[in-house]
Amino acid sequence: MIITVTSFKGGVGKSTTAIHLAAYLATKRNHTVLADGDLNRSVINWFERGGEELAFSVCDGDSIPNDYDHLVIDTAARPTEDELIALAETSDLLVIPCTPTTFSLEATIGTLAILPSDRYKILLTVVPPKPSREGEKTLSALKKTGLPVFNTMIRRFSVYLKAENLGVPVSQVRDPKSADAWADYTAVGKEIAKAVKR
Ligand SMILES: Nc1ncnc2c1ncn2[C@@H]1O[C@H](COP(=O)(O)OP(=O)(O)O)[C@@H](O)[C@H]1O
Ligand SMILES: [Mg+2]
Repeated sequence: MIITVTSFKGGVGKSTTAIHLAAYLATKRNHTVLADGDLNRSVINWFERGGEELAFSVCDGDSIPNDYDHLVIDTAARPTEDELIALAETSDLLVIPCTPTTFSLEATIGTLAILPSDRYKILLTVVPPKPSREGEKTLSALKKTGLPVFNTMIRRFSVYLKAENLGVPVSQVRDPKSADAWADYTAVGKEIAKAVKR
């Protein structure tokens, strides 16, 4: 399947999401390719830092091989309406990371209205830990609007910054929150598998 990660704002966890979804899909022994469609090469740079043996391959958005089982595409922020429609047509699902702030949400909701609702799902990311209820409140507000949204929220953990510095997925970082962080993306991966029946 082809999963494209895109959003209307930068810094909302797109590259982090693309990397962890590719890492999750690769655990299923599928040939998984992670394509970096962002000119600032966040994904490629991430793994050049790590230089570890990865379960998936990483390539430039312009040189995607065609022998994959799963393809995850990271993109630059702020696609135009035309770009968004094109991405939706070529992907099985668009994953739209969005942080639980009003500003981020308004940008997301306004633009997504042009897409059929089976083409995308909003993913709440960098969700503040309890006792904050920001994530839950945003999730239920989104559900009320009828927009497609993942039930899983990606919690905010400092292990993501460590992973970024080390150039590996969180599952490979020694940190007390590594398992919790990885569990979030595993749960999203399962929701995607259900949404995209192929
Ligand atoms: N769930 C999270 N918790 C804490 N930090 C996060 C989380 N997701 C992403 N980050 C951090 O936020 C920053 C922006 O994330 P990134 O994936 O590069 O966003 P984008 O690709 O949308 O610009 C990075 O430093 C990343 O490590
Ligand atoms: Mg990015």
